[in-house]
Amino acid sequence: MEPSTKNLLFYYWGNNIKKSREKIIFRLKIDKNIKDNYEPSFSLGEQGASIIHLDKINKSYYLGKQELQVLKGISLDILKNEYVALMGPSGSGKSTLMNILGCLDSPSGGKYILNGKDVSKMPDNDLAEVRNKEIGFVFQQFNLLSRLTAAENVALPLVYNGTPKKQRMEQALEMLNRVGLADRSHHKPNELSGGQGQRVAIARALVNNPSIILADEPTGNLDSKTSVEIMEIFGKIHDEGNTVILVTHEEDIANYAHRVVRLRDGIVESDTPTPKGALQPA
Ligand SMILES: Nc1ncnc2c1ncn2[C@@H]1O[C@H](COP(=O)(O)OP(=O)(O)OP(=O)(O)O)[C@@H](O)[C@H]1O
Ligand SMILES: [Mg+2]
Repeated sequence: MEPSTKNLLFYYWGNNIKKSREKIIFRLKIDKNIKDNYEPSFSLGEQGASIIHLDKINKSYYLGKQELQVLKGISLDILKNEYVALMGPSGSGKSTLMNILGCLDSPSGGKYILNGKDVSKMPDNDLAEVRNKEIGFVFQQFNLLSRLTAAENVALPLVYNGTPKKQRMEQALEMLNRVGLADRSHHKPNELSGGQGQRVAIARALVNNPSIILADEPTGNLDSKTSVEIMEIFGKIHDEGNTVILVTHEEDIANYAHRVVRLRDGIVESDTPTPKGALQPA
């Protein structure tokens, strides 16, 4: 299975676990908020308005007994409503880092504070809860489910958080309208162009109203005109006050962001404002 498809299944599977657990908790009448276990380990003042705080994040994979160190001590602060492009050569660890940022994977070491909560060692089902609330993820290969229509694909995250069907469809259509695809809601993914497919994937990432949007090469497979359309959508999402982080190999796409973080061999090689970022008030 494609790693990104596995991620998608994990994304929704995790949410499903959370739902079952909630039922159990309800049955047992346990009057306890699981979030109590995850008190922020710092006062918010310390990190200022950082929505993402990474402290020496490591990630290793094991092939047999051999350790492959992919991320080697990434420390990074991303403020609320920043627009960051993540760049770097193939294999430098961008997707690995994005998966950790999106709570799809846990680091092997280091600390990840997301919106004031230490998520570095959170169990999978609690991570799913955080993910569902905070994060919209646009995958490299759209990952739309082929048997579902565009609207059903967009509505998928709402199935897992228990939104009633009528409301799900209303919200999905509203999102498709936002990305300019209201007239394609009944199309299946193979009846859409590449750019339209990507817009459906963006609508799906936005349907839960997340405040952080993570996109792994969202324009990787698109022509330049369609890429501009997609980047305009991200621009709007950012203008609405959300935090946007996207991976790209293209400098002109990175220049839509305000800050570029470059990875090389699992470390941050540079972290600089783009020309657009340099114009921002401090
Ligand atoms: N599940 C895994 N098991 C073992 N090694 C992995 C796994 N996932 C990624 N890697 C390795 O980790 C390194 C970083 O991979 P990653 O996908 O993060 O790179 P990337 O910067 O996103 O590259 P690209 O630009 O090609 O998408 C690569 O050398 C890759 O082979
Ligand atoms: Mg990648």
